[in-house]
Amino acid sequence: MSHNVSFVDPKKNYQSIKEEIDEAYFDVMSNGDLIDRRHLKSFEENLARFVGTRYAVGLNSGYDALHMSLRAAGIGPGDEVIVPAHTFVATASAVVNVGATPVLVDVAKDFNINIDLIEAAITDRTRALMPVHLSGHMANMVRVMEIADQYNLIVIEDACQSLGASLNGKKAGSWGLTGCWSFYPFKMLGGYGDGGAITTDDPDVALFARRMRFNGEDRETGEYHGHGFTCLLDNLQAAFLDVKLSHLPAWITRRKEIAQRYRAALSNLPDLMLPHYDYPGYDDVYQNYTVRSKQGDAFSEYLKSHGIGILTQFRKPYYKHMALKLVDRGFPETEALSREVCSLPMNSEISNEQIDYVIKTVRSFYGREWRGGGK
Ligand SMILES: Cc1ncc(COP(=O)(O)O)c(C=O)c1O
Repeated sequence: MSHNVSFVDPKKNYQSIKEEIDEAYFDVMSNGDLIDRRHLKSFEENLARFVGTRYAVGLNSGYDALHMSLRAAGIGPGDEVIVPAHTFVATASAVVNVGATPVLVDVAKDFNINIDLIEAAITDRTRALMPVHLSGHMANMVRVMEIADQYNLIVIEDACQSLGASLNGKKAGSWGLTGCWSFYPFKMLGGYGDGGAITTDDPDVALFARRMRFNGEDRETGEYHGHGFTCLLDNLQAAFLDVKLSHLPAWITRRKEIAQRYRAALSNLPDLMLPHYDYPGYDDVYQNYTVRSKQGDAFSEYLKSHGIGILTQFRKPYYKHMALKLVDRGFPETEALSREVCSLPMNSEISNEQIDYVIKTVRSFYGREWRGGGK
């Protein structure tokens, strides 16, 4: 029985696909294919197919995807963009960095933006909604799109944590003007360094991003179409990501199995809230398995002291960091969950034996024995 369960296990993941990754590496390196070559094109085509959009454009990071989407939508000074109060800070930073103002809205029990609070935050300056699909579970995009239609707003999906998730059969990242993706190494589809992309059905947005990621240049004509950025996804990373994308469906299946294993063994602990919502039409992919423990730090410290890798994102909500100068309008659900969140180990490399050790440890914290387990 292992008493050291990693939160993620990139080494084991590499070992499981080593031959294909090494082959991709030698293919790229032996041909000197470093910038904007066929591997990037292939990955973009496969990503767009996977998400169900016409285009995908490879960028440097998830942040770049958010930033580029806002620029493509023409959002800037004087504009307001609605974002959730509980998310990774990059969602709000992208808005600030184009000169616009993020307007924060509290989340609901499923960690995603509280749909019932959006309309009260809309003003005559609001230009866009930026829902985040956190931890592999989509925001209610049916309602988001209805509100956007009603108020004539642009929708940019921060889908960085939900590649493969869907609602009513339609994948995350295919609903809004763009879907924004991060291939940070610990994402379900993670590179060996930073990476990102947007997916979109809009040819003008795709063309804008293709030019702007390359300092505004049209690569065919050499013409500059604006002041751009250097934020192209490296061809080498694209080659790796293309290999990994072909394994993603199997990895998602494994994540769902792990989630069910946790659920079967942990759902009868009254002080622990599990991330299973059973909303009709939602297909969750468990980028993170974030539970809420009423015991907060005592719970997470106990797991750590038993050799279990966990994450407590985020004990301090991003809007409470004074240097960010964001407006805290009072977000009771975000405040409550911030004290309680704890993400348990969730990765496709973890063994059932390791999960059972996590389960046993969680139950022992609550003074409950567990005789389950097995294969
Ligand atoms: C919800 C969310 N938004 C944005 C990002 C930013 O992605 P990146 O780290 O690739 O810039 C991340 C990833 O870390 C994320 O989880």
